[in-house]
Amino acid sequence: MMRNSSKKRPKAQPPRKAKKLSAPLSKPDVRLLDAEKFLLPTYKRQPVIMSHGRGAYVFDSTGKKYLDFLGGIAVNALGHAHPRIVKVIRREAARAIHLSNFYHNEFQGPLARKLTEWSGLDRVFFANSGTEAIDGAMKLARLLGRKPEEEPAGAPAKKHRFLALENSFHGRTFGAISVTATEKYRLPFAPVVPGVEFVRFNDVADLESKFGDTVCAILIETVQGEGGIYPVSEAFWNRARALATQHGAQLIADEIQCGLGRTGRYFAYQKFPSKPDIALIAKPLAAGLPLGAILTTETVAARVSPGMHGTTFGGGPLACAVALEFLSIVEEEQLLENIRTRSAELREGLAELASRFDFIREIRGEGLMIGIELSVEGAPFVAEAMELGLLINCTHDFTLRFLPPFIITRAQVREFLKLFEIVLAKTPKQASALDAGKSAIPQGAAHVAARG
Ligand SMILES: Cc1ncc(COP(=O)(O)O)c(C=O)c1O
Repeated sequence: MMRNSSKKRPKAQPPRKAKKLSAPLSKPDVRLLDAEKFLLPTYKRQPVIMSHGRGAYVFDSTGKKYLDFLGGIAVNALGHAHPRIVKVIRREAARAIHLSNFYHNEFQGPLARKLTEWSGLDRVFFANSGTEAIDGAMKLARLLGRKPEEEPAGAPAKKHRFLALENSFHGRTFGAISVTATEKYRLPFAPVVPGVEFVRFNDVADLESKFGDTVCAILIETVQGEGGIYPVSEAFWNRARALATQHGAQLIADEIQCGLGRTGRYFAYQKFPSKPDIALIAKPLAAGLPLGAILTTETVAARVSPGMHGTTFGGGPLACAVALEFLSIVEEEQLLENIRTRSAELREGLAELASRFDFIREIRGEGLMIGIELSVEGAPFVAEAMELGLLINCTHDFTLRFLPPFIITRAQVREFLKLFEIVLAKTPKQASALDAGKSAIPQGAAHVAARG
């Protein structure tokens, strides 16, 4: 019966399976309907269900394959299903996923030691996310700013102000939104933490005019991520370091997106001659499991006592075991070298594309953290790329952002460049930055040179 009826079909009709594979979720999927109905609408999600990944590729529920140049927004540094990570997760999940911070576990100490070796700092606190690390660091800065003999607990400390940078992004908790410049993230929740002032990006004169004895910390993303991939300049960093030391304030480096190898160094600040007092990490640390950390000095640690700060989940044995494995893989597979080599290949290919597509205004970034600023809206390019099986992201309306995994190969860079060229050619060009009355470049950043 079946055979006969299929024989009667007109020949031109495509086979069912092929249609399903090429058209993402053409009829409503109950899982998408559930998501729409029951989730808080905090994201503008693509109507696609991603199901699994392998190396630098991700697959959706229809079987469509994507080259992953977003990497879970800088989280999946080892790509997907790295065999060593899978092995550790299997092993430790069968031993202890969680043990209270009232006890030591086997991995926190060794992981903390390794992170101090990578960062040049002395002490570590484990949190669950980037934003929680930011809030913890802000608490430490306030603690250090207080003079316990003169300013009893409860009384506002004289040294309480925070400086942050224009165009910054530090997360979504109250402390973090208070130091995040983008108004749409901050203003709906006012009043936020008081005493925050924003400094023009890379503007040393503005920094000097706003620094003073009442500042307890300055927060700097060593390379701004959400803001559109803007590296902080050496002159600005050096001045911030000197002013923080002079005024007894903490220099806090937010390396949540740019740290742990992303720029081709363990920490992005390692291109500068000096260290921060506090460095914050998260995203790739536990290869996709939630884990963040505050790294700091003995001076800061000396002011901390039990009970002042804590968290239930931070530093659990499973996440820490995976993080230790992540750091070992970066070292043993010489991924910093791979990041630098692949970065140079990507930059070369992108520069060639920029010479042919005049709406590419600038290529910025370091290592495998690259932004391409367009003179036209970026969102349609992201949609076209997805159609072609390439995952990228647009930040600040006009900047396309690439955060591929550290393990990408030369062949995958070539595959990306080929796909991206088609994306650039095919995408309908929409409103330009000038038409929309927006400047994509933050004030003070215009002089930032593109770097390799
Ligand atoms: C530089 C930077 N800081 C902080 C955060 C917040 O991290 P999380 O989303 O883990 O809270 C992010 C997240 O994108 C980030 O890029």
